[in-house]
Amino acid sequence: MDTVLAGVRAESHPLDPLSSTEIAAAAQIVRAGHDLGAGMRFETIVLHEPDSPAHTDRQAFVATYDVATGDLFEAIVSLTRATILRWTPRPGAKPRIAPDEFLLAEEIAKQDPRFVAALAKRGITDLSLVCSDPWSCGVFGHKDEEGRRLIQTITWVRNSPHDNQYAHPVEGLSALVDINRGEVVRIDDHGVVPVPREEANYLARFQKVWREGLKPIEVVQPEGPSFTVDGYGVEWCGWRFRVGFTPREGLVLHDLRIRDGESWRGIVKRACLAEMVVPYGHPSGVHPRKNAFDCGEYGIGVLANSLTLGCDCLGAIHYFDAVVNRIDGSAQVIANAICLHEEDCGILWKHSDFRTGDSDVRRSRRLVISFIATVGNYEYGFYWHLYLDGTIELDVKLTGIVNTAGTMQDGTTGRGTRVASGVVGHVHQHVFNVRLDMAVDGPNNTVVEVDTVADPPGPDNPWHNALSIKETPLLTEKAARRRTDPAHMRWWKIVNRERTTAIGHHPGYKLAPHSALRTPAAPGSQVGQRAGFVSHDIWVTPTRGDERWPAGDYVNQSGPGEGLPAWTEQDRPVADQPITVWHSFGHNHVVRPEDYPVQPVVHCGFMLQPFGFFDRNPTLDIPPAKSSHSCCA
Ligand code: NI
Repeated sequence: MDTVLAGVRAESHPLDPLSSTEIAAAAQIVRAGHDLGAGMRFETIVLHEPDSPAHTDRQAFVATYDVATGDLFEAIVSLTRATILRWTPRPGAKPRIAPDEFLLAEEIAKQDPRFVAALAKRGITDLSLVCSDPWSCGVFGHKDEEGRRLIQTITWVRNSPHDNQYAHPVEGLSALVDINRGEVVRIDDHGVVPVPREEANYLARFQKVWREGLKPIEVVQPEGPSFTVDGYGVEWCGWRFRVGFTPREGLVLHDLRIRDGESWRGIVKRACLAEMVVPYGHPSGVHPRKNAFDCGEYGIGVLANSLTLGCDCLGAIHYFDAVVNRIDGSAQVIANAICLHEEDCGILWKHSDFRTGDSDVRRSRRLVISFIATVGNYEYGFYWHLYLDGTIELDVKLTGIVNTAGTMQDGTTGRGTRVASGVVGHVHQHVFNVRLDMAVDGPNNTVVEVDTVADPPGPDNPWHNALSIKETPLLTEKAARRRTDPAHMRWWKIVNRERTTAIGHHPGYKLAPHSALRTPAAPGSQVGQRAGFVSHDIWVTPTRGDERWPAGDYVNQSGPGEGLPAWTEQDRPVADQPITVWHSFGHNHVVRPEDYPVQPVVHCGFMLQPFGFFDRNPTLDIPPAKSSHSCCA
């Protein structure tokens, strides 16, 4: 095992993601201890994050399964000692759908004569132009699906090799594939609808006319960026944190701290996207199965793009590679997966004194830590922003291609918007859930709900203008399942009640839920049963290393009620102790014709702003600056 030990970098920080060598070593150690045979696959090989930074044993979490039996096991592996520390069967758990399985599912479908015949019925005979996308398919209680690990392939066809297939939905046809056994369980053919053949291409190679008059805008940083990077550690203008990355969550920010005088004050111990679900609202054909959990069922990290300098990212860029496992246990390096750069962000503050003529303005800038994942037809960009005034923001950018459908049998659009002749974008939602291990000024925090309430008219409110601020500490898990309330401008504050600032506040951070949304999530729907996290805008739990996944540990074909709904039934105390805040937010997507054939970015996200954390505006020390490259046009 010397080769394994040699792979552990002596200089690695305990929170550094696993290296390629460590991933391969973890697979080797697990295989040596528990060889599952020819059908052995590796769902996840990831750093087992230590409870404390003083921990010296480097450990991996491994989820491995056998395609022959469907059995899944979890292992905790010591890389330092080359041993398996824990081996846990997880009966019934189904691994995520891996990128390695995307084209495999399509191939299996195309080899099935029933699928080929159904295509022929629609006039499609060139299989090389058929694109049958791999969709997770949920739990619908059909007898022939029991015990199987399934992928529903949903079908489009290209007119030519680089043509946009989503312009040509092959409506009503899917193959249900058992991906473990490599066989088609069933072909679902809901009836022939003519395949629209009008092209809708967006690639530059198809564009014939270009808009004129766009002069270059260049980002110039003549002295380089203001950040420094040491391994996965980053410092920038009074901020400090560590970058992490996992196959399921993608980018993780560890130990976010901000400098205040001589001290580095903590804000968030760990922040990441924890889950997301995209339910579609059309009730017939292949569409009711479309409820994709892009973290839990696919892994948003393994789908990260390699980013391009000067196109995806402008300015002085630092890239981090992402290293993830493949299902054979080897490592895959996604080069330039995480982009770190800074951006000008308009003005930070300004005031002109009309008497003295004094006028001061400061420029705002932000540090951007981002990655972009491609999930089939769709792109999600996750942009964490840090600002000079202590604000933390997550901006999720949604782009890519709407998941198109054909019209109904009678030519109507069904529950959607017609985006082209014979092509429909169904109403759907993108619901995200972030996991925030809070550590505002220390480990013990409490969430306080803040409502703005108009007081009733009366002797102490004679002019009916009185507004009160109603603060309610959320003390237990059930009490802390909360929703936004636009009538009361509701938001939440995460405070440290063990500390008091010089002007008498408990230092806190305000969670501004500006993209909260309502999801119908009827109790009988897949989302109602399997994505309970959408039913509240925030949840608060005691921070637990084994409570990571708001829709359950294994979401693919999962059962009802897992994750946040189950944990919070314990109604544990969540005040004045290490707490995790879970925030659900998203985008209600009523498709626009302008979203087609490729969707201009739409945004959703949330913000964490200091609230009584500092005693006054912490940016008076930002020096005035004037851009020497600016000129009068
Ligand atoms: Ni959408």
